[in-house]
Amino acid sequence: MGNKCCCEDPNYHVHSYCVFTEVTECHRHVIRGVTSPAEDTRDHKHKMEGVTSTDSCHSHCYRCRTGKPKYMCSGHVHEFGDETSRDEGHRHCFCGTTDKGRRCRR
Ligand SMILES: [Fe+2]
Ligand SMILES: [Fe+2]
Repeated sequence: MGNKCCCEDPNYHVHSYCVFTEVTECHRHVIRGVTSPAEDTRDHKHKMEGVTSTDSCHSHCYRCRTGKPKYMCSGHVHEFGDETSRDEGHRHCFCGTTDKGRRCRR
């Protein structure tokens, strides 16, 4: 890759995601964001991290990796799943699938 930023490299891509966590203690949160960039290799994965939406006056952090790509006729998606950080005495499970992604090039 040399000195080229992966955001400018046409072989790199990212995916968007937006899912609800499971309900715990009568509330749930939204997990929404964009994955880290990854090169277009057959077994690549992406990092996901961020902060959930604020509900019931608190939020949680999350950090995980997607699974390997699941190829379909026009692109690929990634499945993911994990637990949020423990805050206010509880955590939430979440899982979902990314969108088909887009080139990183700005
Ligand atoms: Fe919560
Ligand atoms: Fe990907």
